[in-house]
Amino acid sequence: MTPKEIQIRYEEFASPAEMSAEDRELVEAAIDAMKGAYAPYSHFHVGAAVRLSNGEIVKGANQENAAFPSGLCAERTALFSAGAAWPDKAMKSIAVAGGVYGRLADAPATPCGACRQVMAQYQTKGGGPMSVIMAGAKRIWKFPDVDSILPFIFDSI
Ligand code: THU
Repeated sequence: MTPKEIQIRYEEFASPAEMSAEDRELVEAAIDAMKGAYAPYSHFHVGAAVRLSNGEIVKGANQENAAFPSGLCAERTALFSAGAAWPDKAMKSIAVAGGVYGRLADAPATPCGACRQVMAQYQTKGGGPMSVIMAGAKRIWKFPDVDSILPFIFDSI
């Protein structure tokens, strides 16, 4: 038996003002995208913004449905929208923000496992790292790639 350990490296920012202009713009886009949330059941409004290799930003917001599993998270709304609109462009970065009744939560918005898996595959498709930014009102986390938030990614098919 050989004990193993995984280290996760990420950066914490106190506010978007500390970030690069590009990342700041993406965080602001994710916060703005929260306005598009349709969350009559959870009242938890989530926004996501994907940065493409051509500089374009594609936004998404969570969309709920009375048949609960039919709804979709903000991240996948943005990722699938970006994938459909710009199939030849790599996704370089994604920012996520969320909060109850549209008020940005203090803590960073941490994507669910299914969204991480979808991020992972678009990262593979793009052929380079997709950074993941989780925004909150009190602190923002930036991870250099999807591997950092989804170790042992499944992408073997
Ligand atoms: N939600 C997201 O949009 N992204 C996440 O990463 C976690 C959860 C949405 C799904 C649902 O509409 C609401 O937040 C409450 O779970």
